[in-house]
Amino acid sequence: MISTFMVVVLLRLGAYEWTRSFAENKTYMKNVLEWHPPRMDTTLGQLENWGGEMYNFIHVWSWEKFGGSTGYDVHLWTIPVEYRCSMMLFLIVLGTARLRTGIRFLCLGGIVLFVLRSDRWEMVLFLSGMILAELDVMRGAHIPPAMAPTTSVLPLGEISNLRPKKTNSLLSFLLAILALYLMSCPDWEFGQTPGWKTLALFVPEWFTDQYRFWQMIGSILFVACVARSPWWQSVFNTDIVQYFGRISYAIYLVHGPVLHTAGYAIERWAWGVTGTDGWAYNTGFIVAAFVNIGLVIWAADVFWRVVDAPTVRFAKWLESNWFISD
Ligand SMILES: *[C@@H]1O[C@H](CO)[C@@H](O)[C@H](O)[C@H]1NC(C)=O
Repeated sequence: MISTFMVVVLLRLGAYEWTRSFAENKTYMKNVLEWHPPRMDTTLGQLENWGGEMYNFIHVWSWEKFGGSTGYDVHLWTIPVEYRCSMMLFLIVLGTARLRTGIRFLCLGGIVLFVLRSDRWEMVLFLSGMILAELDVMRGAHIPPAMAPTTSVLPLGEISNLRPKKTNSLLSFLLAILALYLMSCPDWEFGQTPGWKTLALFVPEWFTDQYRFWQMIGSILFVACVARSPWWQSVFNTDIVQYFGRISYAIYLVHGPVLHTAGYAIERWAWGVTGTDGWAYNTGFIVAAFVNIGLVIWAADVFWRVVDAPTVRFAKWLESNWFISD
């Protein structure tokens, strides 16, 4: 809400108008013509329009594609999707909580097959997350090493059952690379792309977003493998990756507004220098990308410090004051 309200402010200041004709010009926008939010005649009209969109953003009454997306930042289409999936997941977690572990996995397996055949890749991902989380608990992945049973405490026979299970870290390391490949499935024409032609044959016909099929499987496999591979974990534990992890949500929220205002202006400047014919188009794009990526990271860092982190602290404060603790 805060980030889309910032879009309202930018719209009123005219920041989206500098780039409006550029945003709609096919000479520059060779891929998707991304929706550029319209400026209303009055601020009141803009606020009314924004309020309506924010109301619609809480889109729990239907599952249509991009249902609840807001024109103020089309990238945020995933928020209503995640919200709906979270609701379903809470229901499934509660509904299966008291089942015996084996029966729960059986039920979850059935539900995964059902949602998959129902063409709901997003629900497959959420359910897989639940399954992976429970597998992590079962194998003791969350037990800190210091608390893991040691030889001095228990007789030898019982140790093997209690120690976090050894996993094949080399296999996990390699499968994670395969998973990265699957996650890189091109969104367009992957059936014609070398390296993908054969894999494309395995995507069921009824699966609407064909390109998401291998991306979906890849992402599940990747999370499962990283959880079992010390090498991949050391990558994700480096300061730089941790930093990007912290600001990742802010990057997600600000990259749209930054690109549609300053970003497009910088691209226009870069293409003004390089031209747009043939390879010059790519050169201009790369030059602008260097500037724009830096700009997005900077804006995300500021947004994270000024909005994201305080919001999380506020939610924690609310939780400690408004919730009943036992
Ligand atoms: C798009 O931009 C090009 C290059 O600046 C310009 O020649 C052309 O008239 C523009 N097209 C439209 C539809 O505005």
